[in-house]
Amino acid sequence: MGFFKRIREDIASVLERDPAARSKLEVLTCYPGLWAVWIHRVSHELWKARLRLLARMLSQVGRFLTGVDIHPGALLGPRLFIDHATGVVIGETAIVGSDVTLYQGVTLGGTGKGHGKRHPTLCDGVFVGNNANILGNVTVGANSRVGAGSVVLTDVPPNSTVVGVPAHIVYRNGERVLIIDPHDIKDPLSDALIHLAARVDELEQRLGAPEPCVEPFAVEEADRTAYREELDRQSHFVSMGEGI
Ligand SMILES: CC(C)(COP(=O)(O)OP(=O)(O)OC[C@H]1O[C@@H](n2cnc3c(N)ncnc32)[C@H](O)[C@@H]1OP(=O)(O)O)[C@@H](O)C(=O)NCCC(=O)NCCS
Repeated sequence: MGFFKRIREDIASVLERDPAARSKLEVLTCYPGLWAVWIHRVSHELWKARLRLLARMLSQVGRFLTGVDIHPGALLGPRLFIDHATGVVIGETAIVGSDVTLYQGVTLGGTGKGHGKRHPTLCDGVFVGNNANILGNVTVGANSRVGAGSVVLTDVPPNSTVVGVPAHIVYRNGERVLIIDPHDIKDPLSDALIHLAARVDELEQRLGAPEPCVEPFAVEEADRTAYREELDRQSHFVSMGEGI
């Protein structure tokens, strides 16, 4: 597809995805995330033609103008939308599929340890909230969503939502995933919880264990359900934050 046809396609996709965008002219003149992608397309061609230094210099011009640092070697699919632009970093071996949305401050980076393919792969339709970091040669499956501020260090299955540091799954194929085993979150706090649970087990055994709780998080889940129902009732006042 020709350069200008792709620009028209990019503008149409922003009008589709961002409720704040009102006209083609506004998108053309006020969306530095799109300029960054367009500059990258040129610098990527220079990179492929082995004009490596020129490619890197052009990508630095793009960074100066837009605040988005895309290595010219990165492979970006059609209709990538980088909303608000500033602070986005995309590494050399990153691969981004089609119709991906990234918010400001997103890093598709390396862990500092790898060589070769050391940056993430984002499949088609992935959404990444602001200031999320996706690090290393991991794959985020098609149509998955990464919450704002998350740090993703392992593969994410398709059609999932992950949040937190380190990121864990909260939705998969539209179903809520509740973590009831601290082993499923690998951070220092979960180690402390695992240790505490083992200690409680040990004490219960010494005292004579009470009847096991059939639904360990029943009260919390009931509270969440009530909260969600209330949110649904108020949905016309509540927004996920997209398009702000
Ligand atoms: C991840 C996200 C897409 C999920 O939205 P959702 O499908 O509506 O999910 P919910 O709000 O039902 O959240 C599910 C759980 O994840 C938690 N959660 C959601 N987003 C989170 C985040 N960014 N970090 C940590 N936890 C988060 C919620 O607290 C909730 O947990 P709980 O049920 O234990 O209370 C959304 O929260 C998000 O981060 N969007 C990014 C928006 C953005 O970047 N806007 C920038 C505008 S400039």
